[in-house]
Amino acid sequence: MPVTLTVNGHRIAATAGLSLFAAAEQAGVRVPTSCVTQGKCKECVVEVTSGMDLLSAPTEFEKHLDIRGGRFRLSCQCRVTADEGQIAYHTMRRGHMRIERNALHLPATHGTTPLDPAVVRAGDRIVDIITGEEVDRSTGPIHGLAIDLGTTTIVIRLVDLETGQLVADTSFENPQRFGGSDVMSRIHYDTEHPGRLLMRTLAGYLSHAIADLPVDPRSIYDVVLVGNSTMRDLFFRHSVYSIGQNPYRSITEIEMAEGKRTTTSLTTTGRRSLLPIHPNARVYGLPIISGHVGADAAACLLALDLAHEDRLVAVMDIGTNTELLVGNRHRLLAASCPAGPAFEGGAISCGMPGLEGAIEDVALNDDGTFRLGVIGGGPPEGICGSGLVDLMSELVRAGRMNAMGRFDEGTDRVTLDADHGVYFHERDVNELAQAKGANVAGLQVVFSHYGIQFDDVEVFYLAGGFGRHLKREASKRIGLIPNLSDAKIVQVGNAALEGATIALVSRARRQEIEALVKRVEHCRLETHPEFFDFFVDGCQFRPVESGDRVGR
Ligand code: FES
Repeated sequence: MPVTLTVNGHRIAATAGLSLFAAAEQAGVRVPTSCVTQGKCKECVVEVTSGMDLLSAPTEFEKHLDIRGGRFRLSCQCRVTADEGQIAYHTMRRGHMRIERNALHLPATHGTTPLDPAVVRAGDRIVDIITGEEVDRSTGPIHGLAIDLGTTTIVIRLVDLETGQLVADTSFENPQRFGGSDVMSRIHYDTEHPGRLLMRTLAGYLSHAIADLPVDPRSIYDVVLVGNSTMRDLFFRHSVYSIGQNPYRSITEIEMAEGKRTTTSLTTTGRRSLLPIHPNARVYGLPIISGHVGADAAACLLALDLAHEDRLVAVMDIGTNTELLVGNRHRLLAASCPAGPAFEGGAISCGMPGLEGAIEDVALNDDGTFRLGVIGGGPPEGICGSGLVDLMSELVRAGRMNAMGRFDEGTDRVTLDADHGVYFHERDVNELAQAKGANVAGLQVVFSHYGIQFDDVEVFYLAGGFGRHLKREASKRIGLIPNLSDAKIVQVGNAALEGATIALVSRARRQEIEALVKRVEHCRLETHPEFFDFFVDGCQFRPVESGDRVGR
């Protein structure tokens, strides 16, 4: 009886000696590669979820995958050694991520921003007007890319820089997760493993994604890139060691404090970026704000037009690292919470990102059964963040889970779909409680530092792909967001990507953000004396009210 291999949900029969790379090809699953399976490019990494003992031992090319319990392998190096059994694995680019094509309810968008790009046409020449240098001699189109480098997800937009029109977009899971699912593990990995493996793997994936865009990649003359401080600095091949050590500063921040640079933004060329774009292209990383509050938060400032905002607003972009911004054009405060990957499906028994097959809606029927909404409409494979929030809210509403996150007596798991083995364990609640506790504590500290209460804000923006799909009532019931009136809560989707796109089409807005980030106060949560107490309170599943204090 041959071995049964399941790759990205596709099943095939395999015999001993077959590599996981070849097996994936047989199953019709494309595995990224730039080295034709020689073990050199490191792009063919896969995550083995069962049957590791039926596979060959790691080769010398796989030494960099020696962490995370040995779940990751190079598929070109790893072969089936058994004659029977079950092996399951998936590529680092599973299915399709949902992309928000249109930013919702944002005060500023690239469509409403006057077109003023950094790279323009001058007759048959293409010129970078920031440097005044000729980039190319061509009468062809001029394209630009806006890239949001998330810890979990990468999103790319292709824009025609002569019309400002969006031409295409694409997204994929960040393949760097073999180096850990959160920022601190990636910093540790990058420091311990020489050779810039995280950057090289990402560059390989970005290159494949760019090559798949419907234009000649050499017509891409400008790239604007945003991401948290670690993701951005890894891309630009800077050491990220200092971001992981108290006082948690990017090398660019340190150099600026030493008078060696005037901005924390970064610029390089297409050639040096390792991307298959025009070699003379400009590649610009937006400035960071401070510490872990990175270029993605700066991009949010642009999309939410906070430089011109008179109302008192708060912004919460929930992710592996949650960004918080509070204030208006007169005073702005920012903070970053290390919430971890739980709300993106990481560290949860049946958790998964918002891909096809993820349960995103959960309703509990009166008879105790569940009504599930699955992305793509097919059978459920797991639960994504918005599904987890719904599920916990429903369990609290029905009294099946208490405020401390404990299930009904005698139960330690809730089965959502027995046929497909999708369940939620009481252990998972702890992971989510801690992620929620960190977010709430961050909010409490920032508001307290600003000297205001939750009710004082006129608009509460929920940014990011996860925030876009949250149900307000469920989020308020479990205390993921403050218990504000629905009229104040505005879900804006990927504001960081929109901010990157605005900076791509407008030099004026780039200058604006360069100046604005220097005015933002950074609230350091890790040193705040009340953070831990707020965190403990925030772990409870109950509404967070304006005026709540520690130890209610
Ligand atoms: S295909 Fe390049 S390392 Fe496996």
